[in-house]
Amino acid sequence: HAFDEAYRPQFHFTPAENWMNDPNGLIFFEGEYHLFYQHNPFGTEWGFMHWGHAVSTDLVHWEHLPIAIYPDNDSQDKDFATAYSGSAIIDENNLLGLQEGDTKTMLAFYTSKDNGQRIAYSTDKGRSWTKFAGNPVIPFDEQDDARDPKVFWHPESQKYVLVLWRMPEGEKSKQGFSIYTSENLTDWYFESHLAGFYECPDLVELQVNRRSDDTRWVVFDGDGSYIIGNFDGKQFSPETPKTQGDFGKNFYATQTFNHIPDEDGRVIQLAWMRGGEYPGMPFNGQMTFPAELSLKTYLEGIRLIRTPVKEIELLHEKGQSWEEENLIPGLDKNLTKKVKGDCLHIQGIFDLKTVNSFGFMVRNSKKAAGIEIRYDATKQILSCLGQGVVLAPEDGKIQLEILLDRTSIEIYGNGGKAVLSSCFTAEPDAKELVLYNTGGELLVKTLNIYPLKSMYN
Ligand code: FRU
Repeated sequence: HAFDEAYRPQFHFTPAENWMNDPNGLIFFEGEYHLFYQHNPFGTEWGFMHWGHAVSTDLVHWEHLPIAIYPDNDSQDKDFATAYSGSAIIDENNLLGLQEGDTKTMLAFYTSKDNGQRIAYSTDKGRSWTKFAGNPVIPFDEQDDARDPKVFWHPESQKYVLVLWRMPEGEKSKQGFSIYTSENLTDWYFESHLAGFYECPDLVELQVNRRSDDTRWVVFDGDGSYIIGNFDGKQFSPETPKTQGDFGKNFYATQTFNHIPDEDGRVIQLAWMRGGEYPGMPFNGQMTFPAELSLKTYLEGIRLIRTPVKEIELLHEKGQSWEEENLIPGLDKNLTKKVKGDCLHIQGIFDLKTVNSFGFMVRNSKKAAGIEIRYDATKQILSCLGQGVVLAPEDGKIQLEILLDRTSIEIYGNGGKAVLSSCFTAEPDAKELVLYNTGGELLVKTLNIYPLKSMYN
């Protein structure tokens, strides 16, 4: 593969070929980030779920590896040969007794439609995988539907925690996330159930205002929505109502990396950009760019903030910068006319003054107007591709950080308080960019635009 097809993202992860959905088993181990993913190796549509696999040392350049986990049966029905979503951890204390030499065992927890929650293990840093002999570790209950185990170590209670989507007694109204604990990774005890959630659970501790002595736990639903609260190792107690996590068109099945070293300390999240289109491409699906999560206190309470990981700078080409420029109404003729490209990193701070609306148009050409990123200052709405989110200025200013790739765009407003993640298709050769102002006075405090290199170069 040259990985240079017209609709192939250049810095968002895609499978080399065929279908991809949820990120699975995200883990950092011995210098490598592992990204497993729901994968159909037989075609560009969903079915026959396997775990595809890739590794990276910097969250930006990914190396494709062979399929890690195969379905547990060879059913010809695409719904029944399954290794569904799940997570990975390191068996630090060799509890399963499978370790070979000094390399700790990597465990993947996944769902099989056949019989419940299962373990596969690797004694060679994720390169080859074997099914655990004691499977399933959590069999299905009668009439129960359950999937997507997220496992992590909880130091305070000295136990492993597993969060699982479940539909007790097959009743839709009861579906939600069940919490289990274990001391040995194979015997799991039910602790509590939180109703009102659907698919791909995540539960993670985040710092508030970057202080290690003030934390909350955040539970994520499959669609990226979240609740902030507390977790005692057995039960989650909500402090906030459920809040939407992303306001774009294509954000689903989030997961955070396990086992990030303490000296790094980041909580890094990926999501599947569900619903993108890739006409004529050999692959179908892309991940969001990895993002760092944290919590911040605002007048209205504690909120999640999400920002792209700083490693994006590894792809920066020589950029252009502006400072303290008044943007007069109309299409800008000076600031951005020299900038072109379909892979860009844009960072700007805009003093709203008396402006009505302003924004960028990307992927323009002589033939067609491209994609509009607009901030409406009268309505306080940030929008793109038909989706919008309310975003109040802070100190009279709006900050925008935009990651533009060939078939996706992520817009982070005000330091990641509001994020829109969306997929699109555009004429491959439409690469012009303009900045515009619909009326009133706007001061561009700072603006940096970096063309981004391809991860494949
Ligand atoms: C979410 C999901 C998961 C399931 C997987 C199957 O997109 O439906 O709940 O494990 O996809 O591919």
